Amino acid sequence: MKKILSLVLLTLVAFSTFANGQKESGKIVIGANIYSFADNFMNGVVKPELESYAASKGVDIQIVDSEGQQAKLNDQVDVFITKGVDVLAINLVDPAAAQTIINKARAAKIPLVLFNKEATEAGAMASYDKVWYVGTDSAEAGIIQGQMMVADWKANPSWDKNGDGVVQYVLLKGEPGHPDAEARTVESVKAFKDAGISVKQLALEADPNWSTQHGNDKMAAWLTSSFGKDIELVICNNDGMAFGAITAQKAAGVRLPTYGVDALAQALTHIGDNELDGTVLNDGANQARATVDLAINAAMGKNPTEGTSWVIKNDGTKAVRVAYVPVTKLNYKDFQ
Ligand code: GAL
Ligand code: CA
Repeated sequence: MKKILSLVLLTLVAFSTFANGQKESGKIVIGANIYSFADNFMNGVVKPELESYAASKGVDIQIVDSEGQQAKLNDQVDVFITKGVDVLAINLVDPAAAQTIINKARAAKIPLVLFNKEATEAGAMASYDKVWYVGTDSAEAGIIQGQMMVADWKANPSWDKNGDGVVQYVLLKGEPGHPDAEARTVESVKAFKDAGISVKQLALEADPNWSTQHGNDKMAAWLTSSFGKDIELVICNNDGMAFGAITAQKAAGVRLPTYGVDALAQALTHIGDNELDGTVLNDGANQARATVDLAINAAMGKNPTEGTSWVIKNDGTKAVRVAYVPVTKLNYKDFQ
C-alpha cells in the first residue's frame, strides 16, 4: 500500500513539474526582456513598472537584458520556450526581426506580446493569431513636440538669431529604422512647414542606443563646428540624448532652445531649471501595465483586452496604443 501511494505521489509530482515547466505551481510565468538595460526610458520607467504591476497581479515575470543584440534575444526566447513559460513579452532589439520571434512563439504555441518596438515587416503581425503589440502611435510624439516648438518659436522672436525667418536646427535622431525615431524626425519638422515656417537642417545624427553620451558628443562637436554659431534649435527624439545636449551646451556656455521626448524625471528637473524647453510624456508605466494585462489574458486563453480598459483598433496592427502628452514649463509639475 505504502509503495503504491509513494508511486502515485511521485507520478503526481513528476506530472505537475512537467506541466508547469520551471514555474512555481499555479502561477502564470511571463518570459520578458528589455532590448537594453542601458536605455534610460526602458530600464528606468518600463522595467520597474513591468515588475511591480506583474507582482500586483500575482504573476511571475522574468526579465532579461538583451544588451542591444538581436541574436542574444533570439537565444533568450529559445530558453524561455524550453523552460515552458506561459507567455512571452518581447521588446525587439531590431524592429525588422519580429518575424523570427513570431515564428518561434507560433511553433511553441505560446502567445506573444511585443512592446515598445513595433514590427516593421509587412505581414508579420498577421502571421500568428496569438501575437499583439503594445506601444504608442509613433508619429504622435513628433506632432506634439513639433507643435510645442512652433508655438515657442512664434512667441520668442529672438530665437531666430540671424533674423532670416528660417529655423536652423540640429536633430538627434535615435535608432535608425526604429518607427519612433523615423516618425518623430519627420513629424516634428513637418509641424514648422505646416505652420508656414521654413526650416534648415544643419546636422542630423542617429544612435541605436538613444544615449546621453551620444547626445553630449554630437552636441559638443556641432557647437565647435563651422555652423556652431548658427544653431537656433536642438531637436532630440528622446530625453536621454537631450540630457547630453544640455551638458554639452553648459560646457560651451550656451543655452539653445532644446526639446526631448519621454518626460523622464530628470527632464522635468531640467524644465524647472530652465535648461530644457519641453518634452512629451511617453507613458511607459501604462505601456508596461497594458503589456502585463494582455500577457495574462493571452496566457489564460482569453481575449487579450478582456476585463481591461485597453483598446485594440480593428486596423490590422493588433496594437494597444498609449497616448502621448505634451509637457512644458506650464504643466511639468503635474508629472513630478
Ligand atoms: C522610445 C523612447 C526612447 C527609447 C526607445 C527604445 O519610445 O522614446 O527613449 O527608449 O523607445 O526602443
Ligand atoms: Ca534663422
